[in-house]
Order: sequence, then structure tokens, then C-alpha cells
Amino acid sequence: MDKDIFILAIESSCDETAAAVVKNGREVCSNVIYSQIALHTEYGGVVPEIASRKHIEKINQVIEQALLEAGQELSGMTAIAVTYGPGLVGPLLVGVSAAKAVSFASGIPLVGVHHIEGHISANFIENKELEPPFMCLVVSGGHSHLVVVKDYGTYEIIGRTRDDAAGEAFDKVARAIGLGYPGGPKIDKISKEGNPGAIHFPRAKVGDAEYDFSFSGLKSAVLNYLNSCQMKGEQVNTANVAASFQKAVIDVLTDHSMAAVKKYGYKKFAIAGGVASNSSLRAAFEEACRKEGITFYHPSPIYCTDNAAMIGTAAYYEYQKGVRHGFDLNAVPNLRLGER
Ligand code: KG4
Ligand code: ZN
Repeated sequence: MDKDIFILAIESSCDETAAAVVKNGREVCSNVIYSQIALHTEYGGVVPEIASRKHIEKINQVIEQALLEAGQELSGMTAIAVTYGPGLVGPLLVGVSAAKAVSFASGIPLVGVHHIEGHISANFIENKELEPPFMCLVVSGGHSHLVVVKDYGTYEIIGRTRDDAAGEAFDKVARAIGLGYPGGPKIDKISKEGNPGAIHFPRAKVGDAEYDFSFSGLKSAVLNYLNSCQMKGEQVNTANVAASFQKAVIDVLTDHSMAAVKKYGYKKFAIAGGVASNSSLRAAFEEACRKEGITFYHPSPIYCTDNAAMIGTAAYYEYQKGVRHGFDLNAVPNLRLGER
């Protein structure tokens, strides 16, 4: 019998300090997340310097906790995995430095992981039967990509946002309607009390690229609507604005995704990233995929937002392919998907 592969994974690319132990790629033994959200709320968004400082304070605790909860010793790990990009440079450096130190001290090999590859791989954790090829929509605070997962670690990006990421649009609109940070979960919640058909916001098309997205026009349309209400002395129905905005985002994401999956002929479709935890978005994709006879995959919300288990899963397939990084591994804030 083959020896079990245990990966200690570290994630610190934004405002979550996280570590996890993952066995044989898809079995999560522990998944520890220290969220800094409360710390950044009063600033209305993530302050990179504050995030870096907090990561430094928390990283060792979180790593120890992950091993403890998994009932494992560091010496039992096969590899140390870490997100090295894309993300905020300071926060990334804390995770990369910690991983290098642990790897150097223990002699356990180091595997650097692309953050988006981690998000996509979150789908493997609970869907044991899911294997490439399939199509995946990655929607997070920093990214909106429509990706063909050709094989483990082999991707083709067929659509991307031209301006704001979907999560960024949620956060900016939430701020404008007074919901505060983090916007996504707040818009998700209040939208349940609103009418998604109350206000018609635009569904942007990017002329020359069928599968690309653009959300900055939608954000401006919401701001214009709020201004015009103010000028006319009309009261704003926050729940209706949130629900109508959310519907516009979801319509564009589902329309483009379904057009692409049909054109490319894939029978499996997955979603990933923080915005993939949005309840209406999940319901819309469930329905759209059902109509087209496509199997729909999505991670549980805890594996949608930033976590280290997804990094451990992605690292497993990289490790199996022989990927190892040296101690010259550096944080790469704008690392491209598929780049090593
Ligand atoms: O993947 P993630 O945790 O971090 C990045 O890699 O960016 O995504 C965070 C983003 C934030 O913009 C947040 O507002 C959004 O995901 N988000 C949501 C929901 N939960 C988190 N957006 C819409 N609905 C949600 N329920
Ligand atoms: Zn993320």
C-alpha cells in the first residue's frame, strides 16, 4: 500500500491567517482560520500593513493549532505548502517566510501554490468523484475568471473581468448603500428582503470578448441611482438596491458561464472563491446547470472564502507532479494562473 501523503498548508494572501493538514489530497484533517475581518471593519476594507502585522502575530499559533487538531506531528508531514501569489505582498511574505522556515528546520519539501488554483481545488474536497476536465468560475475579492481545468494544474482562462472583480463590486456597492465591510455577505443577507426586479441595473457585455466581464459600469449605475434618489429627496430602499444589484451580477455570471460551457461542450461546471458562497448565486447556477443537463459542483461556504485546506489540496496534485520549491521562493503579488 502506498504511504499516506500529509500536507501542512499555509494561506495568508489577504486577511485570513490559515493553516490546514490535508491527507492524500482530499481529506481535510484540520482547517484553522483566524479571520481578521473585525480588525479591518472600522477602516471599511483590508489595510495591508495591519494585515501583515496580524499575520506575523498569528501564523505560528495557527500552524500549531492545525497540527494539534489533525493529531499530527510536524515530522509526519510529507510537504509544506504555501500560497505565494497572487495577493497582497506583505501578507503573502509572512506565509512564505513561515513555510520556508518550517521546511528548512524540518527538511520537509516546500511546495508553492497559486491562490486561484487553491480556490478551484476547493471543489475536490467534498466532491470526491470530481476530476478534470471541467469548467470553473472563480469569483473572489480580487478575481473573476472563467477557467477550463484541463487537468490537475493545467488551466486555460477563457474569460476574465476587465475592471472590478465580482467581490470588489459587492464590497464597493455595500459601502455605498451603508452596509459596511465585508460587503458580500451583507448584500447576500439583506437581498433576501428585497425585490431583485425593483430597479433595472445594466448587464454589461464586453464587445470583442464574449466571456469577459465588466462590473465597474454596474457599480457606477448603482451610485448614479443613489445620487438621483438623494437629489429627488426620495428614500432609498436598501434591500431593493442590494437585491437588484446582486441579480445583475448573477445574471451576467450565469449567462456568460452557460454560453461558454455549452460552446466548449463540458458536462461539469464548478464555482469557487468567496463570492461562490453567495446563496442566490448558488441557486441560480444550480438551476442553470440543471436546465442544461450539466453537473454542478460547489464547495461549502467555509471552503469558498480563503482557507488553507484548499491550498493543501492544490499542493497535493503539484507534489504528485514533482513540483518542489527552493528557499528562493518569493511572494509574487501578481502571479498568473499556470505560471510556476
Ligand atoms: O476568496 P475570498 O475570501 O478572498 C479573495 O481571494 O479575494 O473572497 C472575498 C470576497 C469579498 O469580496 C467578499 O465580499 C466576497 O468574497 N463574499 C461574498 C460572499 N461572501 C464573501 N460575496 C457575495 N456573497 C457572499 N455571501
Ligand atoms: Zn481568495
